[in-house]
Amino acid sequence: MVCLGNICRSPLAEGILKSKVSTNTILVDSAGTAGYHIGNSPDIRSIAVAKKYGIDISKQVCRKFSKKDFSDFDIIYAMDKSNYTNIIAKTTNKEELNKVKLLLNEIDLKINEVPDPYYGGDQGFEDVYNLIDKACTVIANKLTISKDQ
Ligand code: 4NP
Repeated sequence: MVCLGNICRSPLAEGILKSKVSTNTILVDSAGTAGYHIGNSPDIRSIAVAKKYGIDISKQVCRKFSKKDFSDFDIIYAMDKSNYTNIIAKTTNKEELNKVKLLLNEIDLKINEVPDPYYGGDQGFEDVYNLIDKACTVIANKLTISKDQ
């Protein structure tokens, strides 16, 4: 799960997807394409909205997306088109390119980007949570081993 800062959207996506799949068999992680907040905890507004829905993301630590992620992960979900472009720019072959997807392309909506909530208010974080939650439900159902199976 990749966004720009790895403090607002992708930590939520990591926490939400982890809550829906078997983490013994499926490795879920998040990163940012920018390095502004490396080593920081998620934004307090993301921590708060996750907590409201029973998910603890407070222990996550911000890291920057790296080329090693192409070998460590099978699927790389970008939160918006700008993140997508930044990730694609680091690919060196078709196999890596094929791993990169827009998260919201998993669901049928008029929008296909998770909006950046950083400069907005709490409602933005609630909206982002709900968008990511819908996409993660679809992803978890697609994965063969989900917590409900
Ligand atoms: P995120 O949000 O990409 O969802 O983590 C942002 C976090 C920080 C900044 C921008 C977006 N920033 O400019 O510091």
